[in-house]
Amino acid sequence: MVILGIESSCDETAAAVVAEVDDPARPWQIRSSVVASQVDIHREWGGVVPELASRQHLRDICGVVERALEEAGIAPCRTDGGPEDLRRRPAFDFAQAREGLRYLEDRGRLFHDAIDAVAVTQGPGLVGSLLVGLQFAKSLAASIGRPLVPVHHLAGHIESLVLHNGPLPLPSVVLVVSGGHTSLYLVPEPGVYRLLARTRDDAAGEAYDKVAKLLGLGYPGGPIIDKLAAEGNDRAIPFPMTRITHRDRNAPDLAGRLDFSFSGIKTAVLRHVRRAEGGGRGAVLPPPFTGAEIADICASFQRVVVETLVERLFEAAWRSGAKSVGIAGGVSANRRLRQDAVARGESLGLPVFLPTLALSTDNAAMIAAAGLRRLRAGVTAGWDLNADAALKL
Ligand code: KG4
Ligand code: ZN
Repeated sequence: MVILGIESSCDETAAAVVAEVDDPARPWQIRSSVVASQVDIHREWGGVVPELASRQHLRDICGVVERALEEAGIAPCRTDGGPEDLRRRPAFDFAQAREGLRYLEDRGRLFHDAIDAVAVTQGPGLVGSLLVGLQFAKSLAASIGRPLVPVHHLAGHIESLVLHNGPLPLPSVVLVVSGGHTSLYLVPEPGVYRLLARTRDDAAGEAYDKVAKLLGLGYPGGPIIDKLAAEGNDRAIPFPMTRITHRDRNAPDLAGRLDFSFSGIKTAVLRHVRRAEGGGRGAVLPPPFTGAEIADICASFQRVVVETLVERLFEAAWRSGAKSVGIAGGVSANRRLRQDAVARGESLGLPVFLPTLALSTDNAAMIAAAGLRRLRAGVTAGWDLNADAALKL
C-alpha cells in the first residue's frame, strides 16, 4: 500500500510518498518527502502572516507534489529545478491546453496505478492554508479515482514517532510541542489519542518565537535560542516556572493539573528586558545587552521551558502507567529538550522516542503515515470534506 501525503496547515507546503511494508519493526517506509518552507517570506514580519501563507501555498503546491512523486520514482518531473524553480512556472499553460490534457490523462493513469490513496491535513491550522492542500488533495484523489483520507495535524506529529522508530511500547504518553500546540496525549493503542493536558495560553514554540523577537534575535526563534543557550549560564536569571493549580473551566472533563502555561515566562523575560532598558514602557530594540547576557537570558529561559516540559511529560507517564514516552513537533528538535528527556528516561528505565530533525518540524511524511493508519481503520472522506481550523483530535 502506497499513500501520498499533503500538508499545508501553516507555513510549510509539503508532500510525501510513504509505503506500508511487510516489516513489523518498521511498518512504514518514506519513499520521498519534500518541504517548501515559507520562513524567508514570514521572517520579514516576525511571524506567519496567514494571507501571505495561503498565497504562497498556491504557488508551491503543484511543484512540491510533482517533486515528491518524482523522488518516489513514480513519475518524472517536468522541470529540473527545485521547488524554487517550480514555483515560477505557471500551474497550467492554456496555449498548450490539448497537450496538457493528454499529459494529465497519462499522469492520471500513472498515479492511479502507483498510489492507493491521498492523505491530507484537514486541521487544525490556518484555514486559508489548509484549504489549499485540502482542495488540491481532493481534486487529485477524485481525478485518479483513489480515496481521500483526512488527517489531524497532531496525529501526524504523533505518528512521526512510529514512522521513525517503529511501533512504540504502549501505553505511551506523547508530548506534542510546536509553534501552535503544547499537549500531552495518552496513546493506549495504535491510532487512539487521548488528550491529557494542553497549554492554557501560548504554545512552547510560540514562547520561543516571541522571546526571540523581543530580544531582537530573528524568526523563527526556537533554533536561534537553542543555539545561543548553549553558550549561556542557565541559572543566571531566576525566571519563574508556572504550575497550574486550578481546573480549566473551558474543559471541565480534564483535571488540568498537568496543563501548561508559557505566557508567564514570556512576560518575565519582557520585564527583565524592560528593567535593563531603565523601566521605560516603549520597545527599545535591540535591548542593551552584551552577547554573553543575551546567551544567559536564552539559557535561563530555555531551562525553565525544558524543565517544565520534561517534568509534566514524565509525571503524565507515571500517572498513566506508560511503558514509553515520545516527543514530537517542531520544538522536539531542541537539543536540550532531547538531552534532558533521554537522560530522565534512562534514569527511570522508561524508553524515550524522538523523531529525526526532518520529521520534527512540519512535513507530509507524518501525514502520509497517519493516513495509512486511518485508511487501514477504514476511514476515508467524502468529496464534501472541508478544512477545520480548530479540528479536535
Ligand atoms: O511543528 P512546527 O514546524 O510547526 C507547527 O505546527 O507549529 O513547529 C514550529 C515551532 C516554531 O515555534 C519554532 O520556533 C520551534 O518549532 N522550533 C524550535 C526548534 N526548532 C523549531 N524550538 C526550540 N528549539 C528548536 N531547536
Ligand atoms: Zn506542526
